[in-house]
Amino acid sequence: MLKSPMKVVITGGAGQIAYNLLFRIASGEMLGLDQPIIMSILEIPSSMEALEGVHMELQDCAYPLLKEVILTTSAEEAFDGADLAILVGAKPRGPGMERKDLITENAKHFVSQGAAINKMANKNMRVFVVGNPCNTNCLVTMHHCPDIDNSQFFAMTQLDCNRSKYQIATKVSCHVDDVTDMVIWGNHSSTQVPDIFNTKVNGKPIRSVVKDDSWLENEFIQTVQKRGAAVIKARGKSSAASAANAILDSIRNIYSTDQHFTAGVCSKGNPYGVDEDLIFSFPLMSKGDGKYEIRKGFEFDPFLEERIKLTEKELIEERDMVAHLLK
Ligand code: NAD
Ligand code: LMR
Repeated sequence: MLKSPMKVVITGGAGQIAYNLLFRIASGEMLGLDQPIIMSILEIPSSMEALEGVHMELQDCAYPLLKEVILTTSAEEAFDGADLAILVGAKPRGPGMERKDLITENAKHFVSQGAAINKMANKNMRVFVVGNPCNTNCLVTMHHCPDIDNSQFFAMTQLDCNRSKYQIATKVSCHVDDVTDMVIWGNHSSTQVPDIFNTKVNGKPIRSVVKDDSWLENEFIQTVQKRGAAVIKARGKSSAASAANAILDSIRNIYSTDQHFTAGVCSKGNPYGVDEDLIFSFPLMSKGDGKYEIRKGFEFDPFLEERIKLTEKELIEERDMVAHLLK
């Protein structure tokens, strides 16, 4: 039996991630084959004509679960009654840039979108931020949603997690699913910390299976930290298909039960001593209905501890850069 429809908002619907995302959402791949969807797509005026073309293609797929599609340039209209918002719409970086170089251009849009979410959306909704720098854009959004619990905001680090799993599985010739408890700590940036201490391969500590600490501490971590830049260098554009895929993975994780996952979440009350007003990526355990706990008991060796401090410092600097946008 079909559930009642969920209103899912996607911003940046005419962009390259959206082109890899909207069709998979509409097919039921993200929320399940029993979940009808009202898709609400927010764009800026100059991209509306391109969005009309994407809309024609959605129509031409005749998706049974897609009950309605709303195209709008009004944030209040887009978020009205929303159950889930996936905030993709933002400028991507080009070659030679860091993601935080996008702060001035992108963060301000999350002020007005946050205000519209707070005013118009279902108070039990979830907000998932992809547009970069996604941790700090998520922090800005959360600060403008005083009526929505902080635990309902997420920033995407699942793509980094998937990249890490692939690198490890290739190194030790196992299946990606044999790599478990993978965590990205901190910022979705080149200071992020893929965990090389608590991750397991076939249930055993990663270091005991890889048996190559130098590879883990250098080549592995740097490959993951710089993978986004490597894709941009090779493609001339930032990751899109893998980003859309990671969005699907993340949303499924958020609505699952008893599933380990990783994402940027509000650091308030975290058990690892991280500054309490950041969107920081932690190990998470899903608790059903979109709820989660930050997993306790992950241990740090001095190598991990030092790098986690660095990524925390970078997030504090990014927060300082948007201090005028926070409230
Ligand atoms: P893109 O340029 O192809 O598309 C962005 C779309 O957003 C455009 O259609 C644009 O018109 C729209 N847009 C811009 N500002 C908007 C606003 N204020 N409201 C609504 N729509 C708006 O970019 P893309 O490749 O789809 O990437 C989108 C963002 O996602 C970038 O910031 C990119 O860096 C980021 N990203 C994040 C991750 C991650 O892992 N967190 C991965 C990949 C990309
Ligand atoms: C990625 O990790 O691929 C995205 O954040 C895009 C980028 O700028 O690297």
